[in-house]
Amino acid sequence: MLEKQEEIRKEFEKDISSIKNSNDLNELKVKYLGKKGIITELTKNMQELSVEERKELGRVSNELKTTLAEEISKLENELKDKELNEKLASEKIDITMPSTKINVGGLHPLTKITDELEELFISMGYDVVSGPEVEIDKYNFEMLNLPKDHPARDAQDSFYITDEELLRTQTSAVQVRSMLKNQEKKPFKIVCPGKTYRRDADDATHSHQFMQMEGLVVGENITLADLKGTLEEMARKMFGQERNVRFRPSFFPFTEPSYEVDVSCMKCGGSGCNVCKGTGWIEILGSGMVHPNVLEGCGFDTNKYTGFAFGVGIERIAMLKYGITDIRDFYTNDLRFLKNYNRVEGGDK
Ligand code: DAH
Repeated sequence: MLEKQEEIRKEFEKDISSIKNSNDLNELKVKYLGKKGIITELTKNMQELSVEERKELGRVSNELKTTLAEEISKLENELKDKELNEKLASEKIDITMPSTKINVGGLHPLTKITDELEELFISMGYDVVSGPEVEIDKYNFEMLNLPKDHPARDAQDSFYITDEELLRTQTSAVQVRSMLKNQEKKPFKIVCPGKTYRRDADDATHSHQFMQMEGLVVGENITLADLKGTLEEMARKMFGQERNVRFRPSFFPFTEPSYEVDVSCMKCGGSGCNVCKGTGWIEILGSGMVHPNVLEGCGFDTNKYTGFAFGVGIERIAMLKYGITDIRDFYTNDLRFLKNYNRVEGGDK
């Protein structure tokens, strides 16, 4: 009996010494301690033995079982630790390694200016609307008091698509659309930013594609004072609280009276410098009281309703605000230019 025990032990020692991982160990466990394992085999024919022999066999096999189980469990723990350490070592993250550079996108300067303007006008109760870039002649010119043979059309050389359709030359076209749409809702106040197109040769101050934002308010008792107050707000929001505005009489077919609006120079404050060409003032937009012909053409009773309108060049505002000297920079998508306006702290520069 003891020999048998000794034999099993020896075989076990041999087997266990060649174990490399927990899989091998599991197999070993089954081989010795499993249901059909060596220890079970050992006690299989117990009934054939005498009481004394049975006792002896029981004791020996139990002892053997306990010893083997202890050794297996000891090795099991060692292997678990080893395997865990290996896993930790192989999955270690080197936090000192340089990270992958993430290119952060940013807003185009024209989008920024548009957003700022929209924010201001929304805070004053305006709706932001849009209109089509392919417009009909009737809305772009005719109903704005610019009939087909009007000489002022020459100032806006246009991209015609058909005789009646063109790329809009001014967001003013949206004035007509808004008036036709809002006949039941008075007063109404809208701004409309968007792209506009003219058949100009591109140079530092001209671009065949550019952006405008139109403003229009129609209601009872709307006066020039409302226009002035509104544009003062705008000038101050865009160029600083200390700005003043001045109205210079001008001509636009769709407003009467019409004004070009100047803002006191943001560089010299009004004393005269190279930016304002010594005048102390910088022109920023066109505006006026909506012409009765336009109001009537859109179905408004001019005895009751008046309105004001203005149209501002977004590029012009951006150029003045950021000191940009060439309008083409907005459209050539040079990343060196664009990144200037999107410096994100800690981001890609
Ligand atoms: N549409 C004009 C332009 O492109 C700008 C303008 C002037 C718009 C006077 C207006 C306005 O609404 O009242 O030159």
